Amino acid sequence: MSRQIVYRAYGGPDVLAWEEGDPGSPGNGQVLIRSEMIGVNPVDWKLVAGLFSRVDPAPFPGTPGWAATGIVEALGAEVLDFTVGQAVVVDSRARLAVTFGSRAGTFAERFVVDTRQIVPRPAQLSIEQAAGLPSSAVAGYSMIQNLAITSKDTLLVHGASGSVGSAAAQIALERGASVIGTASTSNHDYLRSLGVIPVVYGDHLVDALRDLDPITASADAVGGAESVAATRAVLIPGGHAVTAWGDRHSQRAGIPWVQHPHDELHQTVALASKGALTVRIAETFALSQATDALRLSQTRHPAGKILLAP
Ligand SMILES: NC(=O)c1ccc[n+]([C@@H]2O[C@H](COP(=O)([O-])OP(=O)(O)OC[C@H]3O[C@@H](n4cnc5c(N)ncnc54)[C@H](OP(=O)(O)O)[C@@H]3O)[C@@H](O)[C@H]2O)c1
Repeated sequence: MSRQIVYRAYGGPDVLAWEEGDPGSPGNGQVLIRSEMIGVNPVDWKLVAGLFSRVDPAPFPGTPGWAATGIVEALGAEVLDFTVGQAVVVDSRARLAVTFGSRAGTFAERFVVDTRQIVPRPAQLSIEQAAGLPSSAVAGYSMIQNLAITSKDTLLVHGASGSVGSAAAQIALERGASVIGTASTSNHDYLRSLGVIPVVYGDHLVDALRDLDPITASADAVGGAESVAATRAVLIPGGHAVTAWGDRHSQRAGIPWVQHPHDELHQTVALASKGALTVRIAETFALSQATDALRLSQTRHPAGKILLAP
């Protein structure tokens, strides 16, 4: 038996319960993972709230969670690339489902996952860093890849203080680009420490951006009318934009939702393990306290990655 977070109806974080259950046995191409650390992403509270219920109804009872790192405890049939006892990083969105269609349910002490959704965890990567990479830093990597950022670019990152935006910013800086990032003033020292030029979002954003270098590319890790309008106002003709949160505003502006390359998890783990990408950790909760973790995520200002310790 194993303990896990479960929900039986859509709602706020209070619908989550901490229960004993059977994680099941791994089938063809699957492994059983014992969690060592679990990453929280905004999509977790959004899925629990039923935001995607029309396109992707949750199977009740559901267990939230797309991100984790842990140890392979058992192999299903036809698993050749992984061994029992191996440390891995899990992104249960990777490869199998482009958007919302996959849930390993990582808010659990043990869970079964498809081997296409795991990569080996390099020894130099801590369990906190490894759990913090999917799906946020992975999306940040994919945005930079989609935009084909080079040292010639000046990249605008909306939400550069968040888990997606800070990863996108670091990877662009690693490629030699200049990076301008929006954030609350309380996060400006953090952005400066990365090498990002900080700008406050809000009423004066476009004016502030016009005082800086011309923007050749935009990675939006916030979404909504304001960041889309700012991108349209400052992006040079022929410049490229991408968003991690597609909505009617980005659709109208023709800004595509980030596409996920097949090797995005592998590449992101490789960048982190060579020190090109560091996840800022906001707070670690006990797994049984997942309700509090989702409440913090819902504030939209967690100041880093939220983790759950099983
Ligand atoms: N497509 C994908 O593959 C994918 C993957 C992961 C995440 N996402 C989505 O990407 C978004 C960001 O995720 P995350 O993990 O980075 O979230 P996060 O760590 O909670 O960060 C939220 C960010 O939003 C900023 N923010 C909050 N309110 C804002 C406002 N009114 N105007 C401008 N910025 C504001 C915050 O800045 P301050 O705190 O500095 O104010 C912070 O940088 C979420 O919508 C998430 O669902 C998409």
